Amino acid sequence: MENQTIIAEDVFGKNGQLLDILTYPNPILKKVATPVEEFNEDLKTLCENLLHTMYMAPGIGLAAPQVGVSKRIFVMDIDFDREEVTNSEGKSEYRITNTNPLIFINPVIKNKNGEILFEEGCLSVPGIYEQVKRANEITVEYQDFEGNQKVLEANETLAVCIQHENDHLDGIVFLERLSLLKKNLLTKKYLKKKKKNG
Ligand code: NI
Repeated sequence: MENQTIIAEDVFGKNGQLLDILTYPNPILKKVATPVEEFNEDLKTLCENLLHTMYMAPGIGLAAPQVGVSKRIFVMDIDFDREEVTNSEGKSEYRITNTNPLIFINPVIKNKNGEILFEEGCLSVPGIYEQVKRANEITVEYQDFEGNQKVLEANETLAVCIQHENDHLDGIVFLERLSLLKKNLLTKKYLKKKKKNG
């Protein structure tokens, strides 16, 4: 079913464009992304499009390489509500509320502490979910889309999500964080499904 891409809450990303999400094993997902050097309108538009695409997917994080842009950028919102509603014209649309969009540019993860086992999925590896071991507490240094330097301390879901998205900037999908046995098993399952679905 075709859905209109409407976000009801006035959130950064509302007016963004829906981008195509690349799926594994697209070679761009395996590349190490390059740092952002220019903080201009194009960057802001890209961030807005990334958030829009993430909210519509829906997902809780999306990295620029996943839409074919090999730059060190990811966006995130780990706890929003999305509801499918029928509008006055009888068409289906999405209402997104309780948003808290985060944008990370040129992130660097520091001070990893503790361990957490968390079930992960990825918009670039649709249909596959598996528990991954990550650091439970991290500090991340990054820039916002205006180039301001920021620091965030994160734990649990937020920390896991940042580590997952940051991996995308290094050309790593979560399957590669699993044991070789699980990785091979799930990759085979995923590729078989992908082939079947075209
Ligand atoms: Ni992912």
